[in-house]
Amino acid sequence: MSKFARIIGTGSYLPPTVVTNDDLSKTIDTSDEWITTRTGIKERRRVTDESTCDLAEIAANNALEMAGIDASELDLIILATTTPDKIFPATATMLQTAIGASCPAFDLQSVCAGFIFALTTAEQYIKTGAANKVLVVGSETLSRIVDWNDRSTAILFGDGAGAVVLSGSEETGILHSKLYSDGKYLSSLQVSNNYINETGFIEMAGNEVFKIAVNRLSSLAEETLKECNMSSDELDWMVPHQANLRIISAVAKRIKTPMDKVVVTLDKQGNTSAASIPLALDEAVRDGRIQKGQTLLFEGIGGGFSWGSVLVKF
Ligand code: UT7
Repeated sequence: MSKFARIIGTGSYLPPTVVTNDDLSKTIDTSDEWITTRTGIKERRRVTDESTCDLAEIAANNALEMAGIDASELDLIILATTTPDKIFPATATMLQTAIGASCPAFDLQSVCAGFIFALTTAEQYIKTGAANKVLVVGSETLSRIVDWNDRSTAILFGDGAGAVVLSGSEETGILHSKLYSDGKYLSSLQVSNNYINETGFIEMAGNEVFKIAVNRLSSLAEETLKECNMSSDELDWMVPHQANLRIISAVAKRIKTPMDKVVVTLDKQGNTSAASIPLALDEAVRDGRIQKGQTLLFEGIGGGFSWGSVLVKF
């Protein structure tokens, strides 16, 4: 049994097609000015014919390469996604074969909190000794469930994938995690189709989601620091779910963390749901902002609602 689950590799992938705010304003009644002011988003990526598994495969291989391990050494794969390629089998099993692994693999659905829930699940496997090397991926092709005529949602979402490899460690790793769910808010944010003969799109009461997100995530960030006996000065980086710059800034302000200690990628990626945290993490690791030994706070909220945080010594 290992004392900690440590992140030993990160990876990510964005499909090449860029959709700018100006592109969207040609087909729906919106503007670059409105989208930038209300959300901070300037552009997002959209798949053409790539699947959720295709994006996950590239992100996973990048993370395995950084970790310096072969896919055959993995004990478990958890894929967080809201946009699986099929109702079944799990997209994680397709990913397992694509990267040449042979371990158990399952999907986890917790919408925009999916990466936090998957990371926490992987940590439990490692700490109980049930697994030592675990691949956690967040991968989304949200453009398939966005109504491109609905300006209240079409401007927000993007496609992409991010991944981490976790390993059992005696030194350091995940220090704390906290998960919450409250299913009362089903109608605030959902795809309401019944899977049988309807194609569903994201439906969202944006304003309500906004207020609840700021509220829940701010309280959670405070609670996380308190339970870890830490002050926010001891945090090196916040790596939040990337939904709206105004949500991210409000949470950072509440825990007195300056924005230069927050990793922000939504300007170029939009909201990529379960992929957004590992995408942001990988960018900041690869450009040298995040260094080994630093303390990172991940937090995010999604449909349900489900929300959570993970505090990591990287
Ligand atoms: O990952 C977790 C899930 N999602 C989120 O976290 C999203 C949370 N919510 C938000 O980010 C924000 O609520 C939005 C960005 C979705 C909307 O911003 P808002 O400041 O809450 O705007 P609003 O919904 O209150 O709408 C204000 C006005 C409305 O017009 P009226 O009624 O004041 O005339 C909307 O019809 O803006 C209008 N509007 C737009 N105008 C131009 C809504 N969408 C657009 C648009 N372009 N794309």
